[in-house]
Formats: sequence, structure tokens, C-alpha cells
Amino acid sequence: MACPTQAIPGEKQPMDSLVVGPGALGLLFAARLRALGNVTLVGRKSGLQQSQVQWQDGTLSTLVLPQQGPGEALPEPLDLVLVTTKAGDTLQALSLLLPALPQSVPVLLMQNGMGSQQTVARAFPGHCLLAATTTEGANRPAPDRVLHAGHGETCLGPLTPSAASLAPWVAQKLRQAGFYSRTSHPIEQDLWGKLAVNAGINAFTALLDCPNGVLPEQPDFQQRITPLCREIAAVAQAEGVSLQAEALHQQILTVCARTAGNISSMLQDHRAGRSTEIDYINGYIAQCARAHGLAAPVNQALFEGVKQLHS
Ligand SMILES: NC(=O)c1ccc[n+]([C@@H]2O[C@H](COP(=O)([O-])OP(=O)(O)OC[C@H]3O[C@@H](n4cnc5c(N)ncnc54)[C@H](OP(=O)(O)O)[C@@H]3O)[C@@H](O)[C@H]2O)c1
Repeated sequence: MACPTQAIPGEKQPMDSLVVGPGALGLLFAARLRALGNVTLVGRKSGLQQSQVQWQDGTLSTLVLPQQGPGEALPEPLDLVLVTTKAGDTLQALSLLLPALPQSVPVLLMQNGMGSQQTVARAFPGHCLLAATTTEGANRPAPDRVLHAGHGETCLGPLTPSAASLAPWVAQKLRQAGFYSRTSHPIEQDLWGKLAVNAGINAFTALLDCPNGVLPEQPDFQQRITPLCREIAAVAQAEGVSLQAEALHQQILTVCARTAGNISSMLQDHRAGRSTEIDYINGYIAQCARAHGLAAPVNQALFEGVKQLHS
């Protein structure tokens, strides 16, 4: 995959970053951003955070980074803030932090699904907010261990007007850190693309308790996937996003085959007793459908089914 680097006049080195949400994805990005400058973590509590990162080629590196808790004074200078909390935690994580951050510092939101990014943009319209969708894969087999499960691509674009001119710079910095990264405008098209595929896989895996590759054989999936894809395409089109039901159906089957052994994040969350991101996936689509006066019974049923799993 091509990963061009583009020189931007006036850029400075090094780049100091803040990573809010030091979980699987946050620590993966922190481990590489550290090559560009200082990295500080923001978690639920403060202290020194030590983790072993296992890279895809099997090599291990030790990551030791300072971590601060919510509301503590921010380090200076700061060039980039990466937000890697789960969608449902994002607004709360940023509610103390953003008012203390200069509005010119780019803040990259990396949550799956949709809805949380728009909520943050509505709450902080003067900040330089960007959203990303990534196919990098990371998980945490133990609290002090991060596994880079798969290389992917990170696609990012502006959420607020002031972020538009900084998007190429942020993408370039991620490339310098070692991630395939590109800009996209409007980013909503890419967010919807990933949302649609997740909406066709994640809830089914949680309800049927199976890895991605087993889904296409399941009668429940077979019965509901065609009407589900039609609903998603209709809602996307009402939102101004170009998405075809048949192409989506095919893409979902391709992803199931390519990630056959994967346990989706929703199933992992359910098995671990954590709340899932269903509100920001099928729940978001069902909510958009209501706003446009469209029916989305399959999305609504998947949303309610997953909610009942952890009620
Ligand atoms: N992992 C991946 O491969 C991947 C790939 C693409 C997209 N994503 C998306 O990226 C996001 C993060 O995923 P993840 O797998 O990295 O989740 P994760 O491992 O659960 O990490 C989330 C982190 O956020 C922390 N957190 C929660 N509330 C916070 C707050 N108020 N302030 C600061 N930190 C807070 C959590 O701390 P506690 O542990 O104490 O709750 C945890 O360390 C999700 O939206 C996910 O869908 C993940």
C-alpha cells in the first residue's frame, strides 16, 4: 500500500503528544508516536504506565510512559491529542481536558461507530477536531501487555472547520510514526463505510457468540442480513452518503471471510462484562432512521438484543 510523505513548510520537530484512553489502540499509537517526541497518557488515574508491546513480527518492546488522571494540568508544549477511549467514554474524558487545551491543538478522535464524534464537535465547535477510522488492530491480553494484531490504514479528516488545514499535517505525522495514513474529506463517508460493515457483523457475533467467520453459516444471520443491508443503505443515503445495499452485503461477507478467526470487539466486551459500543453502531443507525422517518426494524432489534445481553 502506498504511503507517500508530503513535506509541509514550517513543521517543527519533535512532536509532543497526549494520548487520552490508554487501552489497546491508545498504547499501540503511543508506542510509535514516542519516536517523534514526548508522549503523555491520560487515563482514569495517574502514575507511571509500563507495558510490553508485542509487534506483528513477534518482537517485544517495553513502553514506559507518564500517565495523568482527569483534570490534571496538561503538559506543555502539546502538538497533537489522540483520543482512544471507547465511544461511550469520550465526551466525559474530554469534558475537563478540552477547556484547558489551546483551541489550535489538533485533537484526533479514533472511536468506532458514529455519534460520539458529532457529540464532541457540538460541545467544542471552536476546537480543532478531527475524526479517524482505522483498520489497525490491537488488543490487550493482559493489563500490562499490548498485542499489535494487524496492520491497517488510518483515514482521517476534519470535523470542525479549523481542523481542515491541519488534516494533512496530522496524517503526515502518523506516517512518520509508522502508520499508513491518509486524509479524507468528508470523513463522514469513511466513518459510514466502517459503521455499515460493523453494523452487519458485530451485533450478530455478540448475539450468536461466535467468531466472524462462522456468521455466514448461521440461519439468523442469513435471514436478516439482506433486509439489514437495505436499511443501512437507505439511512446512509438519507444522510447524504453513497452506499449500495448489495455492495455492502458482499463487503460484509468478504470481511467475515478475511477475519474468520476474529472475535469482534463487541463480543469481547460482552464476554468480559463490559458495556459495548452498540449505541454508536446499530443504535446510531436506528436513531438516524427515526430522524429521517425511515423504518429500521432489523437495526433496532439488533440494538435491543445486544442491550439485553448486558442488562
Ligand atoms: N483495538 C482496536 O484494534 C481498535 C481498532 C479500531 C478502532 N478501535 C476503536 O478505538 C476505541 C478504543 O478501543 P480500544 O480497543 O483501545 O479500547 P480499550 O482497550 O477499552 O481502551 C479504552 C481506554 O480508555 C480508558 N478510559 C475510559 N474512560 C476514560 C476517561 N474518562 N479518561 C481517560 N481514559 C479513559 C480505558 O480505561 P479503563 O480500562 O480504566 O476503562 C481504557 O484504557 C474504540 O472506540 C474502538 O472501537 C479499536
